[in-house]
Amino acid sequence: MKRFFYPLALAGLLACSTAQNTTAPTASAALATPVPAATPVITDKAMVVSAHPEATRVGVDILRKGGNAYDAAVAVQFALAVVFPVAGNIGGGGFLLYRGADGREGALDFRETAPAAATRDMYLDQQGNVIPDLSTLGHLAAGVPGTVAGMVELHQKLGKLPWKDVVQPAVDLAAKGVVLTEKEAAGLNRTRDTFLKVNQSAALLRTQGEWKAGENFVQAELARTLERIRDQGRAGFYEGETANLIAAEMQRGKGIISKQDLANYQPKWRTPLHGQYRGYEVLTFPPPSSGGVALLQMLQMLEPYNLGKAGWHSPQATHWITEAQRRVYADRATYLGDPDFGRVPVAQLLEKPYNKQRMASTLPYRATPSAQIAAGAGLPAYESDQTTHYNIVDAQGNAVSCTTTLNGAYGSKVVVAGAGFLLNNEMDDFSSKPGTPNAYGLVGGAANAIAPGKRMLSSMTPAILTKNKEVALVVGTPGGSTIITSVLQAILNTVDYGMNAQQAVGAPRLHHQWLPDQIDVEAGALRPAAQDTLQARGYRLNPRAPWGRVEAIRVLPGGKLEGGADPRGDDSAQGY
Ligand code: DON
Repeated sequence: MKRFFYPLALAGLLACSTAQNTTAPTASAALATPVPAATPVITDKAMVVSAHPEATRVGVDILRKGGNAYDAAVAVQFALAVVFPVAGNIGGGGFLLYRGADGREGALDFRETAPAAATRDMYLDQQGNVIPDLSTLGHLAAGVPGTVAGMVELHQKLGKLPWKDVVQPAVDLAAKGVVLTEKEAAGLNRTRDTFLKVNQSAALLRTQGEWKAGENFVQAELARTLERIRDQGRAGFYEGETANLIAAEMQRGKGIISKQDLANYQPKWRTPLHGQYRGYEVLTFPPPSSGGVALLQMLQMLEPYNLGKAGWHSPQATHWITEAQRRVYADRATYLGDPDFGRVPVAQLLEKPYNKQRMASTLPYRATPSAQIAAGAGLPAYESDQTTHYNIVDAQGNAVSCTTTLNGAYGSKVVVAGAGFLLNNEMDDFSSKPGTPNAYGLVGGAANAIAPGKRMLSSMTPAILTKNKEVALVVGTPGGSTIITSVLQAILNTVDYGMNAQQAVGAPRLHHQWLPDQIDVEAGALRPAAQDTLQARGYRLNPRAPWGRVEAIRVLPGGKLEGGADPRGDDSAQGY
């Protein structure tokens, strides 16, 4: 089928999921796009946007009690581990970017690490082929979790309320239960058989029958683990009973995370990356995320083009955006990896002449086949459905953008027996074998090879845009390899196309990642005529089910906050 048609029935899709508080007029009338209006949540002072209404509520409660954005981030992170087990976690990791009201900024890396016993070829058979599922399912797929250490570090450095107060809401949610949403009930039921494959029994399984939407979901073991974290901080997870339970789980499932790995885990403060785009300063995450570098490269490549004039998802704008994405993902595959294990040429990749020259091979009316695109030459070589995002802006103007993950839906599916939480399958983000795609179709090489203690390359792209030194947009999303292009589109949607926060996150999306050489197209993202033009230019279009859960907070002139919660999930924006 050469051409596919999606009815543009987007009003429903774009209606705000759990809009609360006062609403405001929607986006600029000047928006010459087929994206229908969508009403954002507007608040006066403070806002939280997350993947679950209960987690958002917990964050807002903490802010109302006098906590700052960092206290709220800790509370939201732990709440998500309870109410959104598909991705919220204590057994995973993430990246948190902040910009304080005083202009200070920081990038907290609590990414998982490869256990000390990990080896480069641990997922290959004797012939050197990747063994199916080994890096995605079960105990061997898990990296050493970083979340709890990350939250302790954040709170010690920037929090205001007592630690116990910010952990307690999650304890309560786990002990008293949370009402399952339809999506969460369906997700748990769908995964039942896989849970049973890798666990003798799992706290997430219903004793009999299936979970139903509206049912109360109690997690008693998880509540006790969270109590240990509440009472002992870092030691409540990396030592003592929780560490013993993790070690026992590893022994049962032939995993390799040791107690020493847990004791050794350290989060790291990194220096945020800066870029500029049409008068905005763009703050984002450095390696071991590839997301920040790639986002800034794409923005540099696109700035010379008048995307606004070309029109939203017009053939011409799509052409430019796709060619930029193709080139940047080729660089990603070659050059990006953990900067603590080799040299990542970040400065060179972010030089304007370099990115200009990369775009010079773009043909005006013809796709460049990915087979003809390699990573940019001459740079120093490297030597040696699930994630979730939340944004918080507090009444003082501190802003947090955090993406956190177990990697796949429910991670490795391993629930630590007696401790009630899921372990990640982040090891699959390493390149198990050069050139062989991972779960997201991403390829990589030496820069992202497995080594003990190393952090696997990520695409997570928390971002904060400022204008005239004031926060203007806080944004991020899950979505594996699509994270970078979804964040890019949310930025273009607001900056180039004048959309409000809700439209910007709800608008249907496109994605190209160099390999496979195709544009993924969400329903409604391209008009039929645009499809024809792009296909005539040599682009392969691949219709794809919706992806990503983009969350955004825009700070409006005058200081009010405008929230966009992705309508594809149960996401919610609330505040006061
Ligand atoms: O760090 C990464 O890039 C991946 N582990 C993220 C996975 C993800 O976003 C899955 N969510 N849909």
